[in-house]
Amino acid sequence: MIAHGRQEIIIHMKIDTVKRYTVTAALPYTNGPVHIGHLAGVYVPADIYVRYLRSKGEDVVFICGSDEHGVPITLKAKKEGISPQQLVDKYHKIIGDSFLDFGISFNIYHRTSSETHHQTASDFFKNLYDKGVFTEEETEQYFDEKANQFLADRYITGTCPHCNNENAYGDQCEKCGSTLNATDLINPKSSLSGEPPVLRRTKNWFLPLDKMQSSIESYIDSHPEWKPSVLGQCKSWFNTGLQSRAMTRDLDWGVKVPVKDAEGKVLYVWFDAPIGYISATKDLFNPELSEAKKHEYYLDVAPKTDLSRWENYWQTESTKLVHFIGKDNIVFHCIIFPAMLMAHGGFILADHVPANEFLNLEGDKISTSRNWAVWLHEYLVDFPNKQDVLRYALTATAPETKDNDFTWKDFQARNNNELVAILGNFVNRVLVLSHKYFDGKVVMGSAFTEADSLVFDELKSYPKKIGEAIENYRFREALAELMNVARLGNKYLADAEPWKLIKTDEQRVKTILHVALQITANVAILSAPFLPFTADKLAKMLDLNGLGWNDAGRSDLLPLGHQLNEAELLFDKIEDGIIETQMQKLMDSKEANQLAQTTVAEAKTNINYDQFSAMDIRVGTIIGAEKVAKTKKLLKLTIDTGIDQRTVVSGIAEYFTPEAIVGHQVSILVNLEPREIKGILSQGMILMAENSDGKLNFVRPTQAISNGSVIA
Ligand code: MF3
Ligand code: ZN
Repeated sequence: MIAHGRQEIIIHMKIDTVKRYTVTAALPYTNGPVHIGHLAGVYVPADIYVRYLRSKGEDVVFICGSDEHGVPITLKAKKEGISPQQLVDKYHKIIGDSFLDFGISFNIYHRTSSETHHQTASDFFKNLYDKGVFTEEETEQYFDEKANQFLADRYITGTCPHCNNENAYGDQCEKCGSTLNATDLINPKSSLSGEPPVLRRTKNWFLPLDKMQSSIESYIDSHPEWKPSVLGQCKSWFNTGLQSRAMTRDLDWGVKVPVKDAEGKVLYVWFDAPIGYISATKDLFNPELSEAKKHEYYLDVAPKTDLSRWENYWQTESTKLVHFIGKDNIVFHCIIFPAMLMAHGGFILADHVPANEFLNLEGDKISTSRNWAVWLHEYLVDFPNKQDVLRYALTATAPETKDNDFTWKDFQARNNNELVAILGNFVNRVLVLSHKYFDGKVVMGSAFTEADSLVFDELKSYPKKIGEAIENYRFREALAELMNVARLGNKYLADAEPWKLIKTDEQRVKTILHVALQITANVAILSAPFLPFTADKLAKMLDLNGLGWNDAGRSDLLPLGHQLNEAELLFDKIEDGIIETQMQKLMDSKEANQLAQTTVAEAKTNINYDQFSAMDIRVGTIIGAEKVAKTKKLLKLTIDTGIDQRTVVSGIAEYFTPEAIVGHQVSILVNLEPREIKGILSQGMILMAENSDGKLNFVRPTQAISNGSVIA
């Protein structure tokens, strides 16, 4: 039974003064490495947001970690022939290192297999259980008698009732895309033993979301400022009516259910995972955490003061909680997790859930199983020290309001035409000229002109413009505005032409470079959330320390007499060959996939020898080929069959051009009844090998042989 009344007391405090921020990024599943889609959708925007807040001097914790439970992990471990623990150990390190390498500045990258997490999630469940929040329900679940365990839906395969695909999973058919229940499958089989499973009754604990709907709805309603796509998904769940959902599973990998009669059961992974944000925060502020654990959790920030307690970040109204996620996580972060927090009581709810859409790759959905992805750890091997280029390209094409496409051509263009030509070029010109004319010193000559003041005025407007875009989760816009600062600098230099004036008016040139250097110093501050590695490099070149967002906009960041360090290039051009190599890599994996995924058509019923020998198949040569007008697929071929020269109309135009096939030997069925196709009499049929995707190949002799030779 649900304890009535409790969920009604949700207080929607309008936060007037935000004192601190808790920013979370979805905990990635630890069953594979991370790719550009993860980075673009969740981790880069979250990192920009956090770096910006830190630069403003805000108190912020940035929380993430590995989501190490759930069925896909046990299945992947089985496939790799290792234990689930070994699997998550392996990927926790690979993923954590990738984030570190790309400058995703988590305060902690925790793990849900940690002791702290098991304890926290377990206590949370117990709290709800003791309050009588859960309903107990008995359902029938598939059980593998040989393996002596209940089977999660993913563990069962069978025939899809919709499309007859024989390899559908118990939760989904990957061929037709339908969502399934294991009991929908025809001829179900356990993937543990290969045996048909049996139905057994089992008891689980359900969160009665149906009874909590009005509270959750009023929470969502109090955030009309959220993205339409996020609100839209929530609305559609409300319209269908929320259903109670099992928070425990019959499985042995996960957080044990801490109540009586729960042998062999663990918490549902979507119950425990978001609690992982809280567990991580606890360990972040745990002064007793061993050095080894700090290392394992990528923890590099010690608690700030004695007053820094994890509770401040989860249980205080003046804390602003923001969840960065991808769109497939919306229901869990906007409905289920808030429902859990409300039922528990004492926790703040998210103030914003800036979910992004998906990033595609070269026009195709990113897919781990099809290896259609750019993996972060592989990118860094091919593009060492170019983290910021990827961060830039991904932010510029971020799937903020709709799915977007990453292409290598765009990546190259962003680098060459924007980072190199605009930002890099500006900074480089200013520094090189300063060294050339004034020994790398910040100098000042004749008084500022009207043009200078206009530039300073415009410069002043950017910190606010960029900051507001970031605060409103519009990162593409924010990045575009940052580039406008560099454009402002370029235009200023182009108009002022110090390289010409140096011969006639050195005093004016001093002032021009003074202005240009102040813009450069602003670029160093303003670019830091987006391009942390570049900003660092630039700050070193300028010997600029300890400045933050609140200093940006000023035109006196570099004092007179200040000595600059040597100039270095911030970006360099990426040549076509490099991009072609990446494209080839993708093409290779597409091909490998097509080979691997080809499904073989079932055998036809037997025929006798006479039926076979009735077919007269000969070797012939294509002596002419042309497209059949007004058709896409048809070629009109002239074949020398040895017997005669005849016309055959063949549906191969999408795969072969006429020029490419004239002169080729082929196999032709010559005694097929002639047939008129598009007004042309076709006499025979060319034999082709066709795979399940419709890809065609000629069937022909491996060495030249005379036309008319019999194939039998
Ligand atoms: N592991 C999930 C995914 O990759 C995200 C979990 S987010 C959390 O889609 F809130 F549950 F932690
Ligand atoms: Zn199907």
